[in-house]
Amino acid sequence: MGFNNSIQPIERELPSHFADRLGFAYASSVSQEHKKGNGQFFTPIEIASLMASNSEFEGDSVRILDPGCGSLVLSCALIEHIANSNRNLKVVELVAYETDSNLIPVSEHSINYLKAWGAEMGINIKTQLYKEDFILHNADCFKETGDLFSKPIELFDIVISNPPYFKLSIDDKRTMVGKVVVNGHPNIYAIFMALSAKLLKRNGELIYITPRSYAAGGYFKTFREYFFKLIDLDKVHLFVSRKDTFGRDKVLQETVIIKGTKRAKPNPEVIISSSCGLKDLRTPLIKTFPKKDIIDLNSNEKILYLPTTDFEEEVLAIFKNWTGNLFKYNINISTGPVVAFRSLDYIRENFENGTVHLAPLFWLHNVKQMTLEWPLVKPNKGQYISIEDKSMPLLISNKNYILLRRFSSKDDKNRLIAAPYFCNFIKSSFIGVENKVNYIYRPKGHLERNEVVGLCALLNSILFDAYFRIFNGNVNVSATELREMSLPPLETIQEIGDSIILSNDFTVENTNSIVNQHLEPAYTI
Ligand SMILES: C[S@@+](CC[C@H](N)C(=O)[O-])C[C@H]1O[C@@H](n2cnc3c(N)ncnc32)[C@H](O)[C@@H]1O
Repeated sequence: MGFNNSIQPIERELPSHFADRLGFAYASSVSQEHKKGNGQFFTPIEIASLMASNSEFEGDSVRILDPGCGSLVLSCALIEHIANSNRNLKVVELVAYETDSNLIPVSEHSINYLKAWGAEMGINIKTQLYKEDFILHNADCFKETGDLFSKPIELFDIVISNPPYFKLSIDDKRTMVGKVVVNGHPNIYAIFMALSAKLLKRNGELIYITPRSYAAGGYFKTFREYFFKLIDLDKVHLFVSRKDTFGRDKVLQETVIIKGTKRAKPNPEVIISSSCGLKDLRTPLIKTFPKKDIIDLNSNEKILYLPTTDFEEEVLAIFKNWTGNLFKYNINISTGPVVAFRSLDYIRENFENGTVHLAPLFWLHNVKQMTLEWPLVKPNKGQYISIEDKSMPLLISNKNYILLRRFSSKDDKNRLIAAPYFCNFIKSSFIGVENKVNYIYRPKGHLERNEVVGLCALLNSILFDAYFRIFNGNVNVSATELREMSLPPLETIQEIGDSIILSNDFTVENTNSIVNQHLEPAYTI
């Protein structure tokens, strides 16, 4: 495909507006597959301006990096913002990267107009557009000791980017380069962010828009460790609706803008703003938090918490006050060992009495809030698993458990969906738990009935759901996050359990109201 540059700037048009029109026209001319393959979603002008407005740069000459530049809407918005707020600006050195060869003429067209505009404003804009992979081109930067002959790296005052988003395969060259900053199947955007942090000067500014998935979870743990050692967060803007942000390109992600600075001594506060999408972008909810409440760099997981409302702030405070957790109560959480497609020889659709011994097999669809619905007939989801020598590694002993879904769907009201399981449910020495379900247990010993019910009620409660959403933007519920989650004192959990058992009403409405009663006055909704 060749893009013809028939689109021309309108008289006195701002470069960012021109870039936005160019990007829009290009996006309309390529297929959804092309966009997906290149991780290509152009930033709407309103968001580009908001991102640019985060810069506080004051010098007369600035070096800017825009990796994955597209039509350069971000660089244009940034240079306009700096030129507006700083009349001394004389020289801009802009370095940009773009790998989509069809898009390059668009990038060049935009750059030419930006330079012409700069000349009229009395600003000398020098540009370098690399038609190369940003990660591979800068692969040496991750090496701590540059060898004798490697070129010194020229650093930047500001990096602004809306990077590509897609998962890289394990053997992708870029995965190899990013090994120090990401683990497992990395998403390309995390390597872009880490590299950008590395390429900043001291006190340089980093402005990025990405999915919020790096805020928590094991996949991004190494990344968080690396990135937040270099970058001190100043501001975060969260788009709380998935629909509107990149509406025209149909991106269904919870998106976040961060502005951070490469400084040694962190600022004590961070500003968090939020909006649903483009319509309320100019009237965001804004709150300031102590940095230590948003990210604890001394913690193991370094989770980034993003509360946006008064209610979420209150919820965060309650959890920060609790000092208990599963580990302290000698409770553990593991993932169900039955991987269905590898265990077909042992899974049975029907109960067969006789020579075969069968245990119940619990799948995700059996786990409902506060109840385990079993058996529940579904095609290809046998409700039994045979007990035999070879299936032993797949089985767990029949004890009291809490079964917790590892995934919720986007339509589920709650992220955490947990059901109690009691060992007297069935006369069997073993049970089976499928791999999309986590089970919570006491490794040496037994979970008491009131502990199972109390903990289960807490996990299903509005309070825990709200807390979970503050740091987890996706529908996965990881065991690691639950291990780190703070809990009220064990006695309170047991009392909640006792009250629910006594009421003999396991509906979520009732368990929720009992949870609230026990946690008051700390918490009221
Ligand atoms: C999410 S788009 C954003 C474009 C532009 N920055 C904006 O905000 O509108 C990411 C861009 O990065 C380009 N890209 C993808 N992989 C790249 C890589 N490895 N190096 C440089 N650019 C890349 C894509 O072609 C795409 O244009």
